[in-house]
Amino acid sequence: MTIESNRSEPKATDGRGWLSLPVWMGIAIAGLLVVVVVLLGLLAVSIMERRWEAQRPAMVVRPISQWEPDNAVWGENYPREYESYLQTRITNTKTKYGGADPRDYLTADPLQVLLFAGYGFSKDYRQARGHYYAVEDVAKTARIAKPFQAGTCWSCKSTDVPRLMDKMGVKEFYAANFHDLAGEVTHPIGCQDCHDPETLKLRITRPALREAFTAMGRDIDQATHQEMRSLVCSQCHVEYYFKTDAQAGLKNYLTFPWAKGTTLESMMAYYDGIEHKDYVHAISGTPIVKAQHPDYELYLTGVHAYRNVSCADCHMPYRTEGGVKYTDHHVQSPLLNIANSCAVCHRWSEDEIRTRVEGIQSKTEAAKLAAEDALVKAHFDVAAAAQAGATPEDLAGPRKLLRQGQFRWDFISASNGMGFHSPQESMRLLGEAANLAQQARIEAARLLATHGVTQPVAYPDVSTREKAWDVTQGFVQGQGVKLLP
Ligand code: HEC
Ligand code: HEC
Ligand code: HEC
Ligand code: HEC
Repeated sequence: MTIESNRSEPKATDGRGWLSLPVWMGIAIAGLLVVVVVLLGLLAVSIMERRWEAQRPAMVVRPISQWEPDNAVWGENYPREYESYLQTRITNTKTKYGGADPRDYLTADPLQVLLFAGYGFSKDYRQARGHYYAVEDVAKTARIAKPFQAGTCWSCKSTDVPRLMDKMGVKEFYAANFHDLAGEVTHPIGCQDCHDPETLKLRITRPALREAFTAMGRDIDQATHQEMRSLVCSQCHVEYYFKTDAQAGLKNYLTFPWAKGTTLESMMAYYDGIEHKDYVHAISGTPIVKAQHPDYELYLTGVHAYRNVSCADCHMPYRTEGGVKYTDHHVQSPLLNIANSCAVCHRWSEDEIRTRVEGIQSKTEAAKLAAEDALVKAHFDVAAAAQAGATPEDLAGPRKLLRQGQFRWDFISASNGMGFHSPQESMRLLGEAANLAQQARIEAARLLATHGVTQPVAYPDVSTREKAWDVTQGFVQGQGVKLLP
C-alpha cells in the first residue's frame, strides 16, 4: 500500500478518530519535536553555564594570598567585579537625600551643630561617599584628633585591617594609636573585607560582628547564604562603641551593643546598663550616646528584611555584560540604578519607584526636623533651669528623658537612606524622640517655675551654622548665653 492510498482512506473508518495522521506527517512531527527538544536543551545548558559563570571563581590568573589587601591583585582574577568596584570612585551622583556626594549636613541643618554641642560631630559632619574613599575620608575629617585617636577608627575603612589584626592581635590593633597605623593602612574597603581569597565565598572578617552574634547566643557560621548577603555589610554599617575595661585588658575594643538584641530599646538598655556615654552635652549637661550608622539594625525592622531581601539585592544587583551575568560591585544608592535593583521585583515604572522612595524620605525628614526642634529647645530649657539655680539632682529627670529622646532621633538621623530602610520604625522613633523632648521641657518648665521663672526661655538665634557654632562654643567654654528672660 502506498502512502497516497493510505492517505485517501477516510479518517472515520480507521478506528483512531480525528487524530489519525498520515505517516509522513507523524515522522515530520517527530522530527520537529526532536529539533525543539535539542534546542530547549541547548538553551538550558546555556542558562546553566551563564549562572555558573556568574558564580564560579574565575580562572585564577594569579593565586591570591591569605591577607592580600590590594584590590588590584584580586582584580587580575576577577576583572568584572573589580572594574565595577572601581566605579565607587564616582562622586557626582546626587539623589534627593543621598548619592555619592559629600553633602555638608551642618550647613544644611544648623540644629545638628547644637545637638552635638561639645562633640566632634558639631564641627564636621558629611554624608558618606563610595567605598573607594574610605581611607582618604577618615584621615581628613576634623573629628580625628591628634595626637591620640583610637586605632579602632580604621576598623571599617580598609582591607589592611584583617591583615594587621592577624599580625598584631585584635586587642592590640584596637589599642594602638590611629596615627601610628596610618602608614600600614592604605587600601580602601574591598575584596578582602567580604571574600575568602581561595573560594571567593562570602566571609566575615571583622571580629566585632562575630562576637556580637556570640553575645546574642547565635552562631554566625550558621547564617544562610542570603543572610550573608547582608551580614557582610553589617560588619561596618551598624551601631557600635569602643569598650575600655582595664581589668579585661581592653582598650577601645570595638563592640556592637547587641547583647540584649538589635532593637533600639535593647541597645539603649545595654548602654544604660553600663552607663555608657560618648559625651556630656555642653548646653544641657546630658550624658549622650551618639548613634553611629545603625543601617543593618534599622533594616532588620523593615518589610524587606522580613521578606528576606538582602542589602546586596538592592545595592549590588546583577549586571549583564557580553552575555555574562555577574554581581555589580558598584555599591551605591539604588536610586541611581532602579532598573537593575528595585524593578527586578517591583513592576512599577522608574518614576513611580523614585517618587515612592522620595515620598517616604520627605515624610521622615519632616518628622526628623520636628524632633530636632523639640530636642534643641529641651537642651536650652534644661540649661535655663540650671541658670535659675536647679541642682544636678533636680536636673537628673529631664536629662534622662533627653538622653532617651536624642538617641531615638539620632538612630534615624544617623542611619543612611532617610528612613527608607524601615519607614514605620523610623516614624515611631522620631515620634518618641519628640515626645520625650517635650516631656523634658515640661519638667524643666516646672523647675523654672519653682525658681520663680514663668516667662518663656530666651532662645538665642541659631539660624545658621556659624551662629549655632558660636552659641555652642559659649557653653563649651562655660559662658553660655543668658537664657533667662
Ligand atoms: C529594598 C532595597 C534596599 C535594601 C534591602 C537596603 N537598602 Fe540601603 N538604600 C536603599 C534606598 C532606596 C536608599 C536611599 C538612596 C538615596 O536616597 O539615594 C538606600 C540608602 C542606603 C545608604 C546611603 C546611600 C546614599 O547614597 O545615600 C546606605 C549606606 C545603605 N542604604 C546601606 C544599606 C545596608 C547596609 C543595607 C542592609 C543592611 C541596605 N542598605 C539595605 C535601598 C535598600
Ligand atoms: C569594611 C567596612 C564596610 C563594609 C564591609 C561595607 N561598607 Fe559600605 N561604607 C563603609 C564606609 C566607611 C563608607 C563611607 C566611605 C566614605 O565616605 O569615604 C561606606 C559607604 C557606603 C555607601 C555610600 C556610597 C554612596 O555612593 O552613597 C553605601 C551605599 C554602602 N556603603 C553600602 C554598603 C553595602 C550594601 C555593603 C555590603 C554589601 C557595604 N556597604 C559594606 C564601610 C563599609
Ligand atoms: C562589601 C562586600 C563586598 C566587597 C567589598 C566585594 N564583594 Fe564580591 N561579592 C559580594 C557579594 C554580596 C557577592 C554576591 C555573592 C553571592 O550572592 O554568592 C559577591 C560576588 C563576587 C563574585 C562571584 C561572582 C559574581 O559576580 O557574583 C566575585 C568573583 C567577586 N565578588 C569578586 C570580588 C572582587 C574581585 C572584589 C574586590 C575588587 C570584591 N568582590 C569585593 C560582596 C563584596
Ligand atoms: C528581591 C526583591 C525586592 C527588591 C530587589 C526590592 N523589593 Fe521592595 N519589596 C519586596 C517585597 C517582597 C515587599 C513586600 C511586599 C509584600 O509583602 O506585599 C516589598 C515592599 C516594598 C515597598 C512597600 C513597603 C511597605 O512598607 O509597604 C516599597 C515602597 C518597596 N518595596 C520599594 C522598593 C524599592 C524602592 C526597591 C529598590 C531600591 C525595592 N523595593 C527593591 C521585594 C523587593
